[in-house]
Amino acid sequence: MKRILLTALLWITLGLGYAQLTTLPDGPGKDLVYARCQACHDLGYVLDSAGIDRSAWIDTIRSMEDAGMEITPEEFDILLNYFVTYMGPNPPPPPDQEQRAETPTAPTSQLDGSKVYAQNCAACHQAEGQGVPGAFPPLAKNPKLLADPDYAALVVLFGLQGPIQVGEQTYNGAMPPFGHLSDAQIAAVINFVRSSWGNDALAKEETKPLAPEDVARLREKGLSPRQVLEYRKRME
Ligand code: HEC
Ligand code: HEC
Repeated sequence: MKRILLTALLWITLGLGYAQLTTLPDGPGKDLVYARCQACHDLGYVLDSAGIDRSAWIDTIRSMEDAGMEITPEEFDILLNYFVTYMGPNPPPPPDQEQRAETPTAPTSQLDGSKVYAQNCAACHQAEGQGVPGAFPPLAKNPKLLADPDYAALVVLFGLQGPIQVGEQTYNGAMPPFGHLSDAQIAAVINFVRSSWGNDALAKEETKPLAPEDVARLREKGLSPRQVLEYRKRME
């Protein structure tokens, strides 16, 4: 009996995420969705689509363009990024949890970057940042990560997609965006990975750690994973 109850509970919890989405989740790009996606129908269609993956969102936006929606390429990227981050298959945690993470009373110094890493990154990049050859690039001794904290923050904010090379190994995968993490969480995890497992980007005294304000500034860019790849190429 107990087991049946538990199972039912689990179903309810799992089902809750999107079945009941009645309003757009907060996040950069939300205003643009309001502005563009209600011109021909109400938001019902949009809310019902929550949970679909990146390529399905691309198809949806394109088919609205076919139906006559006029948007610029920049707006396309902002809309897509919003949908993938906030209404994709990996939605951010419930708002109350996020607010707790973002309360100004928790300064970055007290936010544990190693925990943010364990919860959000280690599944792919592995506990010691060693990665999985051919699938997930290493973060330990990764020259791109060490070269530019802004680049690492852009990858976490907006994801990364397309062929890259790290050392001798090539990768051609996609990292999902983690834009639902707070600015402080992203700063903390980047500072953690840039100073762990032999990474010494923060060893020099003149190097400042990434601040939440820096992440907030980068967030404004609203890039697509492909544009983050372009940024990486320009570093070469
Ligand atoms: C120029 C008019 C127009 C605009 C603007 C528009 N849509 Fe649509 N949308 C349509 C039409 C037409 C349909 C089909 C309606 C029907 O079958 O009843 C539709 C249907 C949908 C559906 C249902 C599934 C499907 O593909 O038929 C979704 C999801 C959707 N729209 C999402 C969006 C989103 C997201 C935006 C904003 C980025 C948007 N729409 C903006 C015209 C538009
Ligand atoms: C679902 C798996 C997955 C998770 C979770 C993940 N990543 Fe990634 N990450 C990837 C993949 C795949 C790539 C390479 C994408 C490509 O080939 O273009 C990547 C690339 C990167 C890069 C760029 C490396 C380079 O050489 O350009 C950085 C930095 C990075 N990830 C950091 C993080 C951080 C920090 C987290 C946690 C907040 C994280 N990743 C979570 C899969 C993941």
